[in-house]
Amino acid sequence: MNGNDIRAEFLKFFAARGHAVVPSSSLVPDDPSVLFTTAGMQQFKRYYTGELDAKKDFKSLNAASVQKCFRTSDIDEVGDESHLTFFEMLGNFSFGEYFKEGAIQYGYEFITKVMKLPIDYVTVFDPDKVPEGDWRKGVPRDDESRVIWEKLGVKDVRGDGIDVFWGPTGAEGPCGPTTEIYVKSAAGKSLEVWNIVFNEFYRDTEKKLTKLQTRGVDTGMGLERLAMVSQGVPTIFETDLFTPLMKLLPSNLSERTRRILADHVRGIAFLLSDGVRPSNKEAGYVLRRLMRRLITHLHIAGNPIDPAHLYWEVREHYEKFYPKLNTQIVLEEFTVEWARFEKTLAVGLKELAKVDSLDAKRAFTLYESYGLPYEILKELGGEKAKRLNREEFDEEFAKHQEISRAGSVKKFGGHGLILNTGELKAGDEEELKKMTRLHTATHLLQKALREVLGSEVAQRGSDITPERTRFDFSFPRKVEKEELEEAEELVNKKIKEDLPVNFKEMSKEEAEKTGALYFFKEKYPNRVKVYYVGHSLEDAWSKEFCGGPHVMHTGEIGRIKITKEKAVGVGVRRIRAILVE
Ligand code: SER
Repeated sequence: MNGNDIRAEFLKFFAARGHAVVPSSSLVPDDPSVLFTTAGMQQFKRYYTGELDAKKDFKSLNAASVQKCFRTSDIDEVGDESHLTFFEMLGNFSFGEYFKEGAIQYGYEFITKVMKLPIDYVTVFDPDKVPEGDWRKGVPRDDESRVIWEKLGVKDVRGDGIDVFWGPTGAEGPCGPTTEIYVKSAAGKSLEVWNIVFNEFYRDTEKKLTKLQTRGVDTGMGLERLAMVSQGVPTIFETDLFTPLMKLLPSNLSERTRRILADHVRGIAFLLSDGVRPSNKEAGYVLRRLMRRLITHLHIAGNPIDPAHLYWEVREHYEKFYPKLNTQIVLEEFTVEWARFEKTLAVGLKELAKVDSLDAKRAFTLYESYGLPYEILKELGGEKAKRLNREEFDEEFAKHQEISRAGSVKKFGGHGLILNTGELKAGDEEELKKMTRLHTATHLLQKALREVLGSEVAQRGSDITPERTRFDFSFPRKVEKEELEEAEELVNKKIKEDLPVNFKEMSKEEAEKTGALYFFKEKYPNRVKVYYVGHSLEDAWSKEFCGGPHVMHTGEIGRIKITKEKAVGVGVRRIRAILVE
């Protein structure tokens, strides 16, 4: 079956069995604790927890979708026979209607009857295979699934550990044991094609499991892999989903490189169409690396093809199913990034040829000066880059970001990391990073409390550790749960808006006139900095006298949670909040 037929058959199968067909959500999820959509279930998270009502929204407790997904975890595997960054996931979901029996029966029927593929073996959860001390150790063995499979005539049922326990995506969420279906590929290798998750638990940010009120089913099957076994070809790159792209890619590049580029072309087209733009952080940084890898390899091959043809091919194949795919934007953005990178690319490659060994520090210098991403350095560095690894490179990257931030702090007062309420001491970069995020979060929190409770809220003290922020403020009564929730929500909303954070240095008198908040107990120097959150000082949402350091954009904070509220004196309340990653 070709890719289009598989999608159609899958949705038809589940629609005929009472499932609402739901379109794919964006590759950029609403959940700020994750960069990309990595699974079909992500857009349904709140139906499992009962926060949203599937019956009301879909007129059914069951849904099915074909979801665009992007995973960076597999990026170093891309180029082998079956791994990808961008892929499509077929999934069926039940929010409290059917469970193990129904889900396994559907999986069995679709694979063996519709796809006409024999099942090689399946796996089920066995806590004996989970390492000691792991948070999943206490989950019972899934004998129920084993029995269901055996009744269907599947003889090879294997117990497995943490690989057959799913989730949560992000800091917290639904999770549970899974059962996986394996099918033999044309090359004779057994491939996992379908993962059926039984969401029975909710994992909180402290990794504690509680039973979900309604148990749910979440399944995920990679379209490309299924096409590979269905079409009897040894790699996903030989399926109809890839062959037209592969044919267009320069033939003087290695097979592996052409596979990587075919993967990246699709990733770039879909990420740009969903609004991601190349940059030096988060999703934008991932996108930039994909773009630069493609640009570099085309350059090395002598630019034998206009990349527009690659994107037109992607459009040709996908636009019917994904109408948001926008080649015009893709081409415009790609051209801009190309022009930006081309200025340094040739020099960078020359420099790379000159160095005799490439460690993380040197690699990072090449990245910083010429924009050559890690992947390129690793690939083209050959023997010289043998010892270069991603982890160390990422460490250099993080270090650099901290140094540029801390640099501006040091200038203020000349004594390192000073907050306006006492000294902020970070033991290492990791801690500093967390405290910086919490510090900006504290500014947002003060403003949010003033919005919710009124302007009588004024700072009385604050203390930040890598684990939490503690904020004391004047207020005459207990803050109600609803009020705390409202303030928390407001902070998270401002984080999500990804507002820029900047400061202006000025005289104390001028600073007071801006309306910025300050802490009455603090003695300020004659010249102070006003940190503001928003696009300009005038219309900033939050303004405070402060020495920093702060994040550059509120989005870096991730998400916060208020964990405690209590009195610490007459008319003084204390709030603690943590980062939820
Ligand atoms: N969430 C599971 C996965 O991504 C099943 O959909 O594998």
